Amino acid sequence: MRLRNAVIWLFAFGAMVLAGAASSSRWEHVPSKDHARANPLTGQNEAIEAGRTIYRDHCLQCHKVDGRGDGRKKPSLRSARVSGASDGDIEWFLRQGDLAHGMPSWSNLPEAQRWQLVAYLRSIQ
Ligand code: HEC
Repeated sequence: MRLRNAVIWLFAFGAMVLAGAASSSRWEHVPSKDHARANPLTGQNEAIEAGRTIYRDHCLQCHKVDGRGDGRKKPSLRSARVSGASDGDIEWFLRQGDLAHGMPSWSNLPEAQRWQLVAYLRSIQ
């Protein structure tokens, strides 16, 4: 009986470790030259406002008002994971998307619009 409990505990612990690794590895695959890219529009009010409009048109339906997410599968964009990512990490991820998990690719947007989105996200974090 005690052995069975230990096995169950080990499985639960292992699953937690794996889940933690999966969520923190979001930016691990970003190529270093993308990771290092800085947002050329950082802090510019016009870019933030443009990003707000693009957000409303393309992102709000899933990530909700002010990027807080739906508390379930659609993550908050104000989390430590996103605010701790580099500008380049986020721009790269917007290009890639993660369709298998419900995040579309935004590679069809002009690059400047992705930087406007990054500027907007920074303004609400
Ligand atoms: C159809 C729903 C949907 C739309 C529209 C959408 N997203 Fe997402 N997004 C998701 C989901 C679901 C995830 C989580 C994917 C995963 O777990 O890999 C995600 C993840 C993200 C992440 C990573 C968050 C993290 O915690 O690592 C960022 C950044 C992001 N989205 C930004 C955006 C932006 C900016 C837009 C608008 C251009 C957008 N998303 C539009 C569903 C959506």
